[in-house]
Amino acid sequence: MSAQAPACQLLERQKDNYASLWVVGPPVDSWLIDQSTGVVSGDFDALHEWQANGKQARTPFDLAADEPFGKEVVLFWPKAHQLGIWWLKWLCEQLPEGTPIEIVGEHQGGIKRVPKILDELGMPWDKRDNARRCSLFATHTVALDSSSDTAWQTFETLDLTLASHPGVFGHGKVDEGTLLLLESLESSLPKKPLKVLDMGCGDGIISAWLAQRGHQVTAVDVSAFAVEACKRTLAANGLEGRVLCSDVFSALEGEQFDWVVSNPPFHKERDISYGPSQRLISQAPEHLNTGGRLIIVANGFLPYPDHLQRAFQDFQTLADNRRFKVYGAVKTQR
Ligand SMILES: C[S@@+](CC[C@H](N)C(=O)[O-])C[C@H]1O[C@@H](n2cnc3c(N)ncnc32)[C@H](O)[C@@H]1O
Repeated sequence: MSAQAPACQLLERQKDNYASLWVVGPPVDSWLIDQSTGVVSGDFDALHEWQANGKQARTPFDLAADEPFGKEVVLFWPKAHQLGIWWLKWLCEQLPEGTPIEIVGEHQGGIKRVPKILDELGMPWDKRDNARRCSLFATHTVALDSSSDTAWQTFETLDLTLASHPGVFGHGKVDEGTLLLLESLESSLPKKPLKVLDMGCGDGIISAWLAQRGHQVTAVDVSAFAVEACKRTLAANGLEGRVLCSDVFSALEGEQFDWVVSNPPFHKERDISYGPSQRLISQAPEHLNTGGRLIIVANGFLPYPDHLQRAFQDFQTLADNRRFKVYGAVKTQR
């Protein structure tokens, strides 16, 4: 089996094999899964793939400080640089000083900026290799002045305090589509508490807004960073809610809700991907009580009306500001 992802192909030519390799924030690649002992990732899909192959898999938020992890560590540089800086600081906090770390990534993903970032953090570095439009650097952990926790920020909007982290959708600002969605919900929300699912919760703005109005909220996201951000947002506002890592409905088998509300994803990294939003719409009827509603917001150009028509046989446009549309569909039969 050969590596498929370009950054993994660069790793593949480094050593015959790794004795105890832990990979951090990697792409899903069968060669890499086979080579590695474990993964630390914020991406539920990646964690699932490593686990399914009998490997250790953790988010950075469920790794206890005293758990052994990695003498050979490779960080895959993320497209969000601030998230890369967060991973470097986090690794320096988790691993003994002097632990070697390799950093690999694609040129189009910004790996060439890594030496400057390492200089700024006071981490020595060495360039190891360059091929397949990727580069590989080596460094080691050092004692840093500032902690990874400084990456968490809060901002105020709609009478709520939102917790934000690099790599979480929006990071510090409210999406225009989300605002339109909340405006249109304001007039249609019943007074009695609803059991609501916020699908793709991000920093938790929709969940907190609904919980603030007395509704019983479950929030899910495929990103562990988003799950942590949503938990922090609810806590910062003294609100309650259940927050889970889930690939669309994967963690919610057999559960039904009165409403499913979402500003659904249509990107994976920089590529357009309708997969999760299509699954959200097609599987929503199974997860709604009779009379329950799916309410989503989307850029006007996205093909959701067709998907809604197929899944629900009918839908309404609840709001339209030319750039975004809010759609609602009701589950009419069991
Ligand atoms: C457009 S953002 C909306 C975030 C937040 N609800 C808001 O309105 O600001 C979509 C969210 O869906 C999440 N997401 C992407 N793929 C997903 C999947 N397969 N299952 C669950 N959530 C997913 C992303 O991590 C992101 O937080």
